[in-house]
Amino acid sequence: MFKILEKQTVAEKINRFVIEVKDIALKALPGQFVIFRVDEKGERIPITISDADKENGTITVFVQEVGKTTEKLGLLKKGDFLRDVAGPLGVPTDIENFGTAVCVAGGVGTAEIYPIARELKRVGNKTINIVGARSKNHLILADEMKKISDELYITTDDGSYPSGRKGFVSDVLKEIMEKTKIDIVFAVGPVIMMKVISEITKDKKIKTIVSLNPIMVDGTGMCGCCRVSVGGTPKFTCVDGPDFDAHQVDWNELILRLKTFNDKERISLEEFHKCRII
Ligand SMILES: Cc1cc2nc3c(=O)[nH]c(=O)nc-3n(C[C@H](O)[C@H](O)[C@H](O)COP(=O)(O)OP(=O)(O)OC[C@H]3O[C@@H](n4cnc5c(N)ncnc54)[C@H](O)[C@@H]3O)c2cc1C
Ligand code: FES
Repeated sequence: MFKILEKQTVAEKINRFVIEVKDIALKALPGQFVIFRVDEKGERIPITISDADKENGTITVFVQEVGKTTEKLGLLKKGDFLRDVAGPLGVPTDIENFGTAVCVAGGVGTAEIYPIARELKRVGNKTINIVGARSKNHLILADEMKKISDELYITTDDGSYPSGRKGFVSDVLKEIMEKTKIDIVFAVGPVIMMKVISEITKDKKIKTIVSLNPIMVDGTGMCGCCRVSVGGTPKFTCVDGPDFDAHQVDWNELILRLKTFNDKERISLEEFHKCRII
């Protein structure tokens, strides 16, 4: 059992949790994730470690409520316990001084890119960061990203963030590409956003790393659920990734595979809502 030390709703349907989980906090590196089980009968969900405090033995995560388990998690409060937290899982992000690094994040992906951007800055990269959200109410970690960015661009689809831009992160990336020599791009967010970023940078031959988020079950390479095709070869995201060369990813296959259980996920959420009303 793992104690929730802090819980805040930081944006629309996005909760921040600080969890006491000493062994994971000691080992966690940027790009790695954990798998939660909320209760004994719960499904396993992968969530990125956004921050780890080795001294206090805690990890910080941001979870967007999109279905039954993430909603269940959203009902927990400070002082409650999670049944299981397994990790750290996945291969840490390869961080070096590349020169000029651009990090692009969409929605809750900002929590996932934050430790990567912070580490890129620490090892000496010029860091240009682009953070996007549907509206200002969906935006997270803007102040934290500001502190670790040489340049920060914030976009919202509806233009509601006062000092930000109206539009998509990909529009800003295109503009930056026109005037700046970029050595590497990291992108984390909805699959469609990562696909678009990948198409833009492929034309200009800019190395691009994405953190993939397929459906996962065990997270240890046993079930094959998280299979993606990269450069024509099957890879298991949980043990071979989650980071991959964006230009090698079969995006259409990933999009299709993510839809596999849509009907069952919808029914499961409806049942969960009915139980809560009763
Ligand atoms: C390595 C990894 C790291 C992740 N890190 C985070 C994180 O830090 N914060 C966070 O909020 N989410 C993260 N996710 C996504 C998160 O795991 C899913 O949103 C969650 O499993 C959905 O569970 P659910 O039961 O609430 O929804 P479900 O009922 O399983 O699904 C509801 C809806 O969400 C979609 N969905 C399901 N799984 C995913 C997925 N993996 N990615 C995108 N959409 C999905 C479904 O297609 C469906 O439309 C990560 C996923 C992976 C693979
Ligand atoms: S989640 Fe089972 S193999 Fe990756």
